[in-house]
Amino acid sequence: MNFPKVSFGHVTVARIILFQKKPPVSEFTDSVLFALERKENVVHIRLADSDTFYVNIDSENPELIRKSGADLSALVSAKKIKKVSLVSSLDEELNIAFLEGMLLATYEFDRYKSEASRKSIPDEIHLDKSYCSQSVLQELLHVCESVKIARDWVNEPVNFLTAEKLAEEFTKLSASAGFSIEVFDKTKIENMKMGGILAVNLGSPNPPTFSIMEYKPANAVNSKPIVLVGKGVVYDTGGLSLKPTEGSMDFMKCDMAGGAVVGAVLGAVALNKLPLHIIGLVPATENRPSGNAFTPGDIITMFDGTTVEVLNTDAEGRLILADALAFARQYNPALVIDLATLTGSAARAIGKNAAVMMGTADEATKEKLKTSGFKTFERLVEFPLWDDYKESIKSDIADLNNIGGPEAGAITAGKFLEHFTSYPWLHLDIAAPAFLKAQEAYRTKGGTGYGVRLLYNFLKNYR
Ligand code: BES
Ligand code: ZN
Ligand code: ZN
Repeated sequence: MNFPKVSFGHVTVARIILFQKKPPVSEFTDSVLFALERKENVVHIRLADSDTFYVNIDSENPELIRKSGADLSALVSAKKIKKVSLVSSLDEELNIAFLEGMLLATYEFDRYKSEASRKSIPDEIHLDKSYCSQSVLQELLHVCESVKIARDWVNEPVNFLTAEKLAEEFTKLSASAGFSIEVFDKTKIENMKMGGILAVNLGSPNPPTFSIMEYKPANAVNSKPIVLVGKGVVYDTGGLSLKPTEGSMDFMKCDMAGGAVVGAVLGAVALNKLPLHIIGLVPATENRPSGNAFTPGDIITMFDGTTVEVLNTDAEGRLILADALAFARQYNPALVIDLATLTGSAARAIGKNAAVMMGTADEATKEKLKTSGFKTFERLVEFPLWDDYKESIKSDIADLNNIGGPEAGAITAGKFLEHFTSYPWLHLDIAAPAFLKAQEAYRTKGGTGYGVRLLYNFLKNYR
């Protein structure tokens, strides 16, 4: 046996009691009813050594309930409560939404912070037996853990998270979650003639990587794999087409968010043992100016032989993704979904409340992905992929140019990517929702992991 841990110091214990409409009968019922009349949905009863929060869940909407979970998480943190027990008379789905909001809101990127300045979060959460089933809880914990991993990677600056480090992180996760991985190094990428990745990497002192992750369980229901592709620009200075420091470069460590989501989703799928064959591809590099950097006007030859006139080195994401999308052809995939912090244009068009989606997959698949978007509140807005938009990526001296015109930048970037696909494909531009400058409920400041819960939900319901 283990003796209980005996130590000095006061531990604050809290009970959170969720109810709908009618509070449970207790000595506090009258005070709770009185508070409800005043339209207060959280009633805090404070005794000498314990706190009880009565939480009126005034809704069936999972997103509002996640937000309520995030609110309670903030209260628990502010009061430095270390042990929480959750009691509820709600349905399992709503209980899970509350816990999901609570857990995701506890996140803080604290690796570089001293103990004293870290956010206080509970180290134990106890659930009533009837709160949810063991398997549903386990699944939620794996998904939340995957979101946390994606957030950590996005929040890591490039002086830690180089392309090689990112591949190492994927390798560590592959071992703990249970999927396989192969990492192409610079020599292999050169031998493969992945001209887009190599061009973007030219200005960087650190070599590129190309990570190929695979989860292929014996009970996979899909005979053709689903391939996920993520942009892995570990830092985007713009290259020689340098971004202005003020505002637009500050947060560009987030430019590998698509790649982070792909790695984290492989982790979630493997941990929860979904019966699906899934492949994840992440081309990764920095985009920097230097004496050797690729230069506006350069004509480069991509992995599939397409030539591209580089008119702006800041439109680098599409160059590395194009090589990965062309590489994906060999798998004869049922579906390819790429995620990328690709354009300021997508961010300007719809902001941080949704990702821009476009692609050639059939309507039914698009609908399913959009439905997962609404369910997880990682919503998608579809943009057109009409051929009219192809005009602006034509070049007089090469097959394509990499900037498109002054208008519809998110779409012309999509048209550029489409050129390298030959299978049902969807492109998600997550430029705005991938990274927040201030916390919004359970979406904490910095990397959000936007796309992990969306794709996990889509894959879980696949077919
Ligand atoms: N990484 C940026 C896009 C971006 C912008 C991500 C804001 C997150 C927040 C991308 O590489 C880029 O610079 N795109 C250019 C393309 C243009 C030069 C054609 C853009 O959108 O301005
Ligand atoms: Zn760029
Ligand atoms: Zn970029």
